[in-house]
Amino acid sequence: MQAVFSESAERNKHPILEKLHPLLVTRKSVLEIGSGTGQHAVFFAAALPHLQWHPTELLEKLPLLSNHCSGHPLDNLAPPIALDIDAAKWPTVQVDAVFTANTLHIISWPQVCRFFTQVGKLLPEHGICCIYGPFNIDGRYTSESNAQFDHWLKNRNPESGIRDITNLQQHARICSLSLQENYAMPANNRLLIWGKCTSVA
Ligand SMILES: C[S@@+](CC[C@H](N)C(=O)[O-])C[C@H]1O[C@@H](n2cnc3c(N)ncnc32)[C@H](O)[C@@H]1O
Repeated sequence: MQAVFSESAERNKHPILEKLHPLLVTRKSVLEIGSGTGQHAVFFAAALPHLQWHPTELLEKLPLLSNHCSGHPLDNLAPPIALDIDAAKWPTVQVDAVFTANTLHIISWPQVCRFFTQVGKLLPEHGICCIYGPFNIDGRYTSESNAQFDHWLKNRNPESGIRDITNLQQHARICSLSLQENYAMPANNRLLIWGKCTSVA
C-alpha cells in the first residue's frame, strides 16, 4: 500500500505536543477524530505512554491509517477504528479526552455542530476536547494567509471554511463544553481546549 505523508502534521506535531503534554498527563485515554495519515497518533502515543490513544478515520480512509499505525507498534496505540462524525452512534470507547487536528474547516457547519454534540455526550464530567487548526476571532481572519486559505477551501467545497471561535462557543455551550484555553500556535493556527462541565449549559 502506498505510504501517505503529511508535511504539515510533521511540522506541527512538536508544538502541539508541547501544549498537550501538561493537559494530558493526568488523562487515561484519548479518542482522535480524523486521524488522517496517523502521524499525530503515532507521535503522541509514543510521547505519552501512560495513556491509550485511539485513532479513527472515515471507513474508506481506514486502510491507509491502519497501514501507518501497524508500522509503529506501540502498546498504548489502539488499532484504528472507523468513525464518521455524521454517524448517529459513535463507537463506544471510554475516553477522558478527545483530540482532532485540521478537521473543523474541512467538514460542514452542521457536521461541526454534530461533532460538538457527540463529544459532549462522550466525555465524562471534566473531560477535555483539544482542537487544533486555523480559526477566526470575532469574525476576522487572524492572517492574510488564513483568508487566502479560506477562499481556497470554499472554492473547493462551499461547505468548508475556517470557523469562528465565537460561533463554536455558542454551540459548544449547548453541549456542556466551555472554552478553557485558546493557544496561539505557529503558522497562524490555534489550539482550543474545551472542558466538559454540565453546569455551563
Ligand atoms: C485535513 S485532514 C487532517 C488529518 C490529520 N488530522 C492531520 O492533522 O494531518 C481532515 C481529516 O478529516 C477527515 N474527515 C472528513 N470528514 C470526516 C467525517 N465526516 N468524519 C470523520 N472524519 C472526517 C478526513 O478523512 C481527513 O483525514
